[in-house]
Amino acid sequence: MQIYLDNSATTKPRPEAIALAQTVLQQQWGNPSSLHNWGQRAATVIETARLQVASLLNARDPESIVFTSGGTEANNLAILGVARQYSTPQHLIISSVEHSAINEPAKLLEKWGWQITRLPVNQYGRVNPLDLQASLQKNTVLVSIIYGQSEVGTLQPIERLAKITRDHGSLFHTDAVQVAGRLPIDVERLGVDLLSLSSHKIYGIQGAGALYIRRGIQLVPLLGGGGQEKNIRSGTQALPAIAALGIAAELAAAEMSVEISRLQRLRDRLFDLLADYPCLEITGDRLYRLPHHVSLILSDRFAAKAKDVTGKTIVRQLNMAGIGISAGSACHSGKLNPSPILLAMGYDAAAAKRGIRLTLGKDTTEADIDWTAMVLKQVICRLMPPLVCC
Ligand SMILES: Cc1ncc(COP(=O)(O)O)c(C=O)c1O
Repeated sequence: MQIYLDNSATTKPRPEAIALAQTVLQQQWGNPSSLHNWGQRAATVIETARLQVASLLNARDPESIVFTSGGTEANNLAILGVARQYSTPQHLIISSVEHSAINEPAKLLEKWGWQITRLPVNQYGRVNPLDLQASLQKNTVLVSIIYGQSEVGTLQPIERLAKITRDHGSLFHTDAVQVAGRLPIDVERLGVDLLSLSSHKIYGIQGAGALYIRRGIQLVPLLGGGGQEKNIRSGTQALPAIAALGIAAELAAAEMSVEISRLQRLRDRLFDLLADYPCLEITGDRLYRLPHHVSLILSDRFAAKAKDVTGKTIVRQLNMAGIGISAGSACHSGKLNPSPILLAMGYDAAAAKRGIRLTLGKDTTEADIDWTAMVLKQVICRLMPPLVCC
C-alpha cells in the first residue's frame, strides 16, 4: 500500500492539467509575444489561464495577474519589487512564521539597511493584529504575512491584518501558496494589495505561479529582458505550466466546497484517531487551520526517554511502510535544524526537531487515514523504549 500524505510539499498533477499541457506542447507551442498565428494561439493560452486564475481569486481585473515560475518567485517579486522603488532603506513587517521565500528576501533587505520587524505568534502560530498595529511606523512601506502556514497549518486573520495595514497607508502582501485553490479567496473582500500562489500545490504542474497585483501598484521588476507580463516579469512564459495552472485553478474553484468538507472530515478523523494517543500532540491552531493539514509533535513527556527520535526518524520509518509524510516544511527537510516555525511558537530546540506533517489531498481516502493512524502509532511504539508509547 502506497499512501501519499505530503500534499503541502507538492500535489500529483491532475489528468486534466497533464492533458492540457500536452496539447499546448503539441499544438500551441508558439511564443506568445510573436505577432503571427502561432504566437497568437500561444497568447490565447496565456490569457485564458489569466482569466481562470483571476476568477479563482475573484480579481475583477485579469490584468492584475502576473505569471511567475512559482510561489518563490511571486514572493520575491512582491517583497523586492516594492522595496526596489525606494532609494533609501525603509521598514518592512513580516511574521515570525514565514516561508523561506519571504524570509530570504527580507534578510537581503536587512543587509541593504532596511529595518525588518518580525511579528511574534502565539503558541498556535497566530499573529495578534494588535501587535501589527503597534509595529507600524511612518516608513513602513510593506507588510507581508503568510496566509496558511505550510508547516503547522495555521491560518492568519488576513482580512483584519490587511485592513490595519491599508488604513495606515502601507501595502499588504500575503503568501497564499498553501491556501489558494484550497479555501475560497476573494482579494476584494480580503483587501490585500499583493498575493502569491503556486501551481504545483493545486494539482497543476511544477514551474508556474502567479502574483496578484492590485491595479495601480507599481513594482520594480526583478528580471531585465523582453518586457513580458506587462513589463513586470520578463522572460518567455512557461506555456504548458501556465495552461496547467489555469485549468487547475478553474477545477479547484468548481470542486472547492465539496472538497473542503471532505478534507476537513478526513483531517479531523485523523486527529480523532490519534486523540487518545499520549505520545503525539497537535501543533498549530485546531480551529483556524488549513482543511487538509495535520501537524503533530512527539510529546515532550515521552520524547525525553528517546532523545535521538526526531521528526525525520518518523518520516523515514513511515516511508519504509509506504507512507509519504514530511518533517516540518519540505523545503527544510534536508537539514536537521530545529524548525524555526516551532521555535517561534515557543517550543524549545529539542522539541522543534520532533514535528511531523501529514497533508491530505484529492486522492486521500478514509482507508488511507485509518491505516496511517495505525502505522504511525506502531512506528512510534517501536522507536520508543518498551511500553512507553504502546
Ligand atoms: C507557504 C509557501 N510559500 C512559498 C512556497 C514556495 O512555492 P514554490 O515551490 O512554488 O516556489 C511554498 C512551497 O512549499 C510554501 O509552502
